[in-house]
Amino acid sequence: MTEAILRQPPLAAVAAVTGPKRRPRVWLSRLTLTDFRGYPAAELTADGRPLVLCGPNGAGKTNLLEAISFLAPGRGLRRASAGDIGRRTPGQDTPGGWAVAARVVTPDGERQLGTGREAETPGAENDRKSERRTVKIDGAVARGRHSLSEVFSVVWLTPQMDGLLRDGPAPRRRFLDRLVYGFDPAHARRVAAYEQALRERARLLRSGRAEDAWLAALEDAMTRHGIAIAAARRALVARLNAVCAARPGAFPAPGLALDGAVEAWLEDGPALEAEDRLRDGLAASRARDGETGGASLGPHRCDLAVCHLGRAMAAGLCSTGEQKALLVSIVLAHTQLLTLEHGGPPLLLLDEIAAHLDGARRTALYEEILDLGVQAWMTGTEAAVFAPLGRAAQFVRVENAALHPAPAAENHGKIMP
Ligand SMILES: Nc1ncnc2c1ncn2[C@@H]1O[C@H](COP(=O)(O)OP(=O)(O)OP(=O)(O)O)[C@@H](O)[C@H]1O
Ligand SMILES: [Mg+2]
Repeated sequence: MTEAILRQPPLAAVAAVTGPKRRPRVWLSRLTLTDFRGYPAAELTADGRPLVLCGPNGAGKTNLLEAISFLAPGRGLRRASAGDIGRRTPGQDTPGGWAVAARVVTPDGERQLGTGREAETPGAENDRKSERRTVKIDGAVARGRHSLSEVFSVVWLTPQMDGLLRDGPAPRRRFLDRLVYGFDPAHARRVAAYEQALRERARLLRSGRAEDAWLAALEDAMTRHGIAIAAARRALVARLNAVCAARPGAFPAPGLALDGAVEAWLEDGPALEAEDRLRDGLAASRARDGETGGASLGPHRCDLAVCHLGRAMAAGLCSTGEQKALLVSIVLAHTQLLTLEHGGPPLLLLDEIAAHLDGARRTALYEEILDLGVQAWMTGTEAAVFAPLGRAAQFVRVENAALHPAPAAENHGKIMP
C-alpha cells in the first residue's frame, strides 16, 4: 500500500495548498443528523474543501452520504424506504422519526434545507403517507422532494452502482435523470408527474372500469411530460458527449446514446409530431398494457447506452475498473458542464471511490476534484489512499456513528512540501 502511494505522481495542484484552494460556488457548510440510522445526533461543519470520511466497516460513512443524498429528489443513494432510516435501538418495534438538516452555500446566498419523518405512533394505524418524508426549504414546507433540485444538485457513485453499466436499464435512467436535474430543475417534477400518471393509468387499466376520457387525460399528461423528459435527456447526452470527447486525462472517454422509440422520434422529426405519436401509441396499446400492467411506450422504456470510445466496446463488456473509470468520467464531465453552463457544480458523493481505481487514476481524480472546485465527499476505510490530497481536503474520522476531525493523512513526505 505504502509503496503504491509513494509511486503516485505529485499533485501539482495541491502542492502549495494549506487550506481551501478556492471555495466551490455550491457547497454544504453544515450538516446535522438526528436519529438518522446509527447516529443519535451528529453535526459536521465543512469549510469548502473536499471531505474525506474514513473509518472502519460499519462506522457510519455511507450512512452520512445517504443523509446528504436525501437533500436531493428521490429515495436517496440506497433507495431505502423512509421507515427504515430512523435509528433503531434494541427492543424498538416501530420506526422512529429522523431528521437531516443542512446549510448550503449557493451563488444566491445561504439556503437552509431539511428533511425527515415523524415517528410512528405505536399501535396506531400509520397510513402510507407516513412513508413519505417532509422537505423544508428555508424553513417552509416544500411541495415535494423535487423542489430540492431548485436549490442545488447532488450526484453520487457508490459500490452498489459498480454494475450500473452492465445490469438493467432502470438504474441507468435514474442516474441520467439525476444528471439532468442539475441543468433543468423542473425535470424532477416532470419525472414525478409522468410516473404518477403512468401508475394511475396502469391501475385504471387493471381495474377494467376505466372511462376513455379519464384514460385520455392521463395519456395526455404522460405525453406532455414524457416528451419533455426525453428531450431534456437527449439535450444533456449530446452536450455530455461533446465534453467527454474533449476531456484529456486519465479517465477513458465514454460515448453515450439513448436507446428508445420516443428518443428516436425526437431524432427524426419535430417534438410536436413525437407528441402525437406517443399520444396515439398509448391510446392504441391500452388492451395490451392492461394485460402486462405497464405501458409499452414512453421514456420509461428508454435505456442509456454507454460505450468505451477508446476500445470501441460496450461499457458492459469492459473490466470492473474500466466501468468505474467510465462512470467517474461521466460524473466529472457533468460537473465540468454544470460549472460552465450554470456556474455551480453539484455536490459529489463518492462512496468507496478508491475501490477499483489504480493509483494513477485516484491521483487524477483528486486533481480534477480540486481543479473543478467541487465539494466531493469521499469515503474509505484507509486514510492512506487519500494521502495525495494532503491538506487540500478536510479529513473526518467516523467511528461508531460519531464524527471527529482528523489530521490530513500521512503523506510520506513525497507529495506535500
Ligand atoms: N435504522 C438504523 N438504526 C440503527 N443503526 C442502523 C440503521 N440502519 C443501519 N444501521 C447501522 O449502520 C451501520 C452501517 O453503517 P454504514 O453503512 O454507514 O457503514 P460504513 O461506515 O459505510 O461501513 P463500510 O466500510 O462497511 O461500508 C451498520 O452497523 C448498521 O447496523
Ligand atoms: Mg459504506
